Amino acid sequence: MTEKAILEYDGKKFEFPLVRGSENEVAFDVKTLRAATGGLTTIDPGFKNTGSCLSDITFLNGEKGILRYRGYSIEELAEKADFLEVAYLLIFGDLPNTDQLEKFHADIRKQSVVDDDIKKIIDAFPKSAHPMGVLSSLTSALTAFNPSSVNVNSDEAMYNAIVKILGKFPVLVAWSMRKKQGLPLDYGSSKLGYVENVLKMMFNQPNEDYVQNDIIVNALDKLLILHADHEQNCSTSTVRIVGSSHAGLFASLSAGISALWGPLHGGANQAVLEMLQAIKEDGGDTKKYMAKAKDKNDPFRLMGFGHRVYKNFDPRAKIIKVAADEVLSDLGVNDPILDIAKGLEQEALNDPYFVERKLYPNVDFYSGIIYQAMGIPVEMFTVMFALGRLPGWIAQWKEMRFRKEPIGRPRQIYTGENLRAFVEIEKR
Ligand code: CMC
Repeated sequence: MTEKAILEYDGKKFEFPLVRGSENEVAFDVKTLRAATGGLTTIDPGFKNTGSCLSDITFLNGEKGILRYRGYSIEELAEKADFLEVAYLLIFGDLPNTDQLEKFHADIRKQSVVDDDIKKIIDAFPKSAHPMGVLSSLTSALTAFNPSSVNVNSDEAMYNAIVKILGKFPVLVAWSMRKKQGLPLDYGSSKLGYVENVLKMMFNQPNEDYVQNDIIVNALDKLLILHADHEQNCSTSTVRIVGSSHAGLFASLSAGISALWGPLHGGANQAVLEMLQAIKEDGGDTKKYMAKAKDKNDPFRLMGFGHRVYKNFDPRAKIIKVAADEVLSDLGVNDPILDIAKGLEQEALNDPYFVERKLYPNVDFYSGIIYQAMGIPVEMFTVMFALGRLPGWIAQWKEMRFRKEPIGRPRQIYTGENLRAFVEIEKR
């Protein structure tokens, strides 16, 4: 097969090489387009057809519904690995052996406190603040307490920055919830596992002994693994593009959290639960909401459905659906919302509108039902997503810097006014 593409424009032919990935994905390499054509550019709103980088981290095939981290299938990782192992895999490229994992965890534990002055910042937020806004601000504030930016040429400095953020982030996650609930801020315990400790920091009551629930620990571990990376999505692209200006790791992560917050991205998990709740309160009439989702004059969308890349089942949604059944039954929770969700899914999968557009349930469709059964407040759902996505963001930021990618700076086609003479204010 020819490994070049030819573009014909204005009677001239321009040749561009092809780039082939390890899973045989092919791209036109248009790096020389402007130089070769004398300034032509491409236009691709939402980057629907544009690859922004080469990456070794995550493979995703949206037509076949395949997701792999560093070559390992998401199904196998969700079943056999724990979240910290997956974080190590994403960030450093290989699964850790026992010594590497123990050292990684021990180094993270040493970093699992934040400067006490962070509490003053939290105190300044109103209780009504959304925890995602609080988390983004606090992550940004970490830069003030750690002002020197990471020396990306030093493995040791990179490693230290990585364990630092992996240690401190769960504290900020938990505190963004406790502030809202008016509970004292808790540091958890260095004797606990990473995920166990997050839950303790979130749910420990000041006047009770904390009792760990293994069903909840295992369910959260699995959910975090499923959210840990998803190649060049909106928040990850944000982290990479902010970092491409050589802004620091924590500042780039804070920007990623803000990008994740939107309801078309990570904020969909909160939006799904609110939608299911509204359907329930409205008498459970799923057909009415299906009709709204299909009505082009109605802004309503079926939240948790559709995906930019998956034109088949999101493999994460398949795992989460099974987990939702298991976790609710193990916890003895009978939530009618799960039945509404299943009913909506069945209707959508048989509806020509959804079938023609290849709209399937995505990762956010069932995850909120599990979070709710675990006792996690709805406003914290996207925060939990951010906790899971943290290793992916770190891995992608590190890769972007190691590959010495140029600053992200897209082009545009200007469609505004041509040159106009300035009009004095009294004459306007
Ligand atoms: N409900 C109703 N119609 C939909 C939906 C939906 N959830 N999603 C897409 N469509 C329609 C859309 O109106 C369009 O129809 P037409 O071709 O007639 O104009 C067609 O399907 C293609 O949609 P699009 O908006 O062009 O697709 P996109 O790739 O730009 O958007 C998406 C992808 C995820 C933003 C979108 O499917 C959506 O808004 N879904 C609901 C929000 C959601 O669940 N987001 C979570 C995504 S997965 C996790 C994550 O990224 O964090």
